[in-house]
Amino acid sequence: MSPFHLTRTLPEDATEAALRADVLHGLTRSPKTLPPKWFYDAHGSDLFEKITELPEYYPTRAEREILIARSGEIAAATGARTLVELGSGSSEKTRHLLDALTGLRTYVPVDVSESALTQAGHALVAERPGLDVHALIADFTARLTLPNTPGPRLVAFLGGTIGNLLPDERAAFLTSVRSLLAPGDALLLGTDLVKDPSVLVAAYDDAAGVTAEFNKNVLAVVNRELGADFDLDAFDHVALWDPGNEWIEMRLRARAAGTVKVPALGLAVDFAAGEELRTEVSAKFREDGVRHELADSGLELTHWWTDEEGRFALSLSVAR
Ligand code: SAH
Ligand code: TRP
Repeated sequence: MSPFHLTRTLPEDATEAALRADVLHGLTRSPKTLPPKWFYDAHGSDLFEKITELPEYYPTRAEREILIARSGEIAAATGARTLVELGSGSSEKTRHLLDALTGLRTYVPVDVSESALTQAGHALVAERPGLDVHALIADFTARLTLPNTPGPRLVAFLGGTIGNLLPDERAAFLTSVRSLLAPGDALLLGTDLVKDPSVLVAAYDDAAGVTAEFNKNVLAVVNRELGADFDLDAFDHVALWDPGNEWIEMRLRARAAGTVKVPALGLAVDFAAGEELRTEVSAKFREDGVRHELADSGLELTHWWTDEEGRFALSLSVAR
């Protein structure tokens, strides 16, 4: 068996159909929306990597700090032989886990971004000759079929990406993750924590404008894939803190009134001056909330670790 496999569980035409359905649904409702998984074409994945290096974007550094401090404990608690990582991206922070999990045989990175998976996968097999890397191009919000690899299995979902799902999507997601766990398996979940809104807003509206470019990239994806004529310069990036929902909301605000054509859908979409398109939420959590959401999906929190400054948490949970 070669050490690097790439399996596409999302046929390209199904991806195209899903994009069409999401864009049609999102641009014809009020307020207009576009779902976040379409940020991550090759350019979007590169831009996200740049975000992780920004001075304002603390979550990556905070989560890395916890992984460095706690990977040994995670390895001891789980004894994982297979590590499945959902939304793995560059797998950069995962290296700390891979180093600590001494019994690990197989790493299964799962992502919608083929470019991120192939780059990360090739680098990892070159670095780690003993490791099988079985990459999966798949949507983690859909039903996942994992390769049949040795347990115990550790499923990791890092980066605070769970906060990009809406509460009902989060519940469905956790329930489906729960169904992947056999006795002895565990979930390692990264959650960004509620904190001073000025710190949060800066993390999603950096001075260099990288997050703005990332947010607008979803328009570039719709232009390229569906022939739309969004003018990226005609929209402003907006990041605001919603204290009721305890999430950061990302929007794109039309500077002037105008019409955007989406030929692949036979659609013409009117924007009023100042109208906002919602692109993503990034929910922030508290320990009690995480514990309860996990419990509601049949998972029991066994460990809770934060960075020194208490900005970000990693939790470990098992099926009840
Ligand atoms: N885990 C990495 C990357 C986080 S960014 C980190 O912590 O830095 C979120 C990642 O999830 C991106 O790589 C993106 O391509 C992927 N992603 C977003 N929505 C997805 C979905 N519905 N299914 C699978 N992957 C998704
Ligand atoms: N999972 C990341 C987060 O919520 C994704 C992200 C970071 C993001 N910055 C962004 C998504 C800006 C959209 C726009 O922190």
